[in-house]
Amino acid sequence: MDKIKKYFVTTPIYYVNDVAHIGHTYTTVAADVITRYYKQRGYDARLLTGTDEHGAKIAEAAIKHGKKPKEYADEISEKFKEAWKSLNIGYARFIRTTDEDHIKVAREFLQKLYDKGVIDSKPRLYGGLYCVGHEKFMSPEELVNGLCPDHQTKPIEHSEENYYFRLSDYQEKLEKLITSDEIRIRPESRKNEILSKLKQGLEDISISRANLEWGIPLPFDKKQTSYVWIEALINYYTYGSQNNFWPADLHLIAKDILWFHAIVWPAMLLAIEEETPKQIFAHGFFTINGQKMSKTLGNVISPDQLVERYGTDGARYVLLAAFPFGEDGNFSWDLFDRLYNADLANGLGNLVARVAKLCENNDVVGEEYKESFDPKMTKHLEQFKFNEALNHIWSEIAGADKLVTEKKPWELREEVKIILADLVKRIQRIAFNLQPFLPETSEKILKQFSGSIKSAPPLFPRI
Ligand code: MSP
Repeated sequence: MDKIKKYFVTTPIYYVNDVAHIGHTYTTVAADVITRYYKQRGYDARLLTGTDEHGAKIAEAAIKHGKKPKEYADEISEKFKEAWKSLNIGYARFIRTTDEDHIKVAREFLQKLYDKGVIDSKPRLYGGLYCVGHEKFMSPEELVNGLCPDHQTKPIEHSEENYYFRLSDYQEKLEKLITSDEIRIRPESRKNEILSKLKQGLEDISISRANLEWGIPLPFDKKQTSYVWIEALINYYTYGSQNNFWPADLHLIAKDILWFHAIVWPAMLLAIEEETPKQIFAHGFFTINGQKMSKTLGNVISPDQLVERYGTDGARYVLLAAFPFGEDGNFSWDLFDRLYNADLANGLGNLVARVAKLCENNDVVGEEYKESFDPKMTKHLEQFKFNEALNHIWSEIAGADKLVTEKKPWELREEVKIILADLVKRIQRIAFNLQPFLPETSEKILKQFSGSIKSAPPLFPRI
């Protein structure tokens, strides 16, 4: 028997300093679409998502709310789960960095790094400008007028004794792996960006914090906790190593955290002689008036607002249809409303209603749909061109509409069943191809168009 192929997709684990916004939702829905696509093709495809709960940023947010860090993390983490439920995200596991098995795997990983001699045996003095929003030290060149350009905050001067990972030892290996696409970084422009940064040289990186209690204690020095980024990256391996699902096939992220995923993470894995992730895709940002949408800036749209307005499938749809996935896109309700009305209410919804009514009037019976994905769909989806995949389906919908308008089946006698049978097939194919994007709607359509076909209430009421 053929072995079932695996496909392992991850999203970043999101910080629990505040609730989800549509930036997080964007990545998570895209990852879910990819996972569902592979599942539908018969793969054992798994999606891992979750929350990043340690570090200064969370500790500060908890204090602000008068809570203990864990208590605060419990609350926000639960809200992320609820948001993903409302969007029908089919994850295999929701991981939290405060989960016991993660803490165990992270400590074992850190110990392995230490045993391999890639972490200095003694701490070194570490200092610089720390941006709590990013949870990282920033170089003076990254700042604009002394402020972090993403958070509009002044990084704090910070120095302490930390343990170091010898990241600089991996420059050549990483260059080779990335150039050859053994670690495939996409879009291509991001790959080039990473390679040119890599050529400027790598500095060793601090992997611990001396004065931060809210973190995982280092196994080889309990007085220090793991730097949150190092431990967070290990979450992928916590799931992967325990489920025989390593390496990851796809880390889906936005461009803000590409350096950690494309450089730091693979180097950590090379250091313990593990396999590196196969692919990293970094998409663009949702912006509002040209500024990154972020909790720190306070200009966020929540997933609840989207689901309330467009329903679960409608929300999934507008997020992925609006912009090319690798690029930034400026959010507007107006744009989303137009997309929803034109494509879902008028396009798909109308076609389905029109054809169902004709079938009902003519006692047409649909057969079960047994085909596979359209090759164009496959091509676009495997390159993460969600909006092009959807455009392709919309040209299929337009084609079916044209057929109805031109052939006027309601005026035909003999030929009517043949035309309607063709339309039923087309609608089934459209629904099947849309299934990763619109799981509930597609299932409804496929059910409605198999067996004796009846009219049903509108799929997408107009806004
Ligand atoms: N906790 C880290 C990730 C650790 S992964 C081992 C982190 N968390 S975050 O909450 O800030 O989430 C960052 C991710 O959220 C981005 O990479 C992206 O996937 C998503 N987005 C956050 N804001 C976004 C936009 N404005 N637009 C699009 N995606 C955005 O970084």
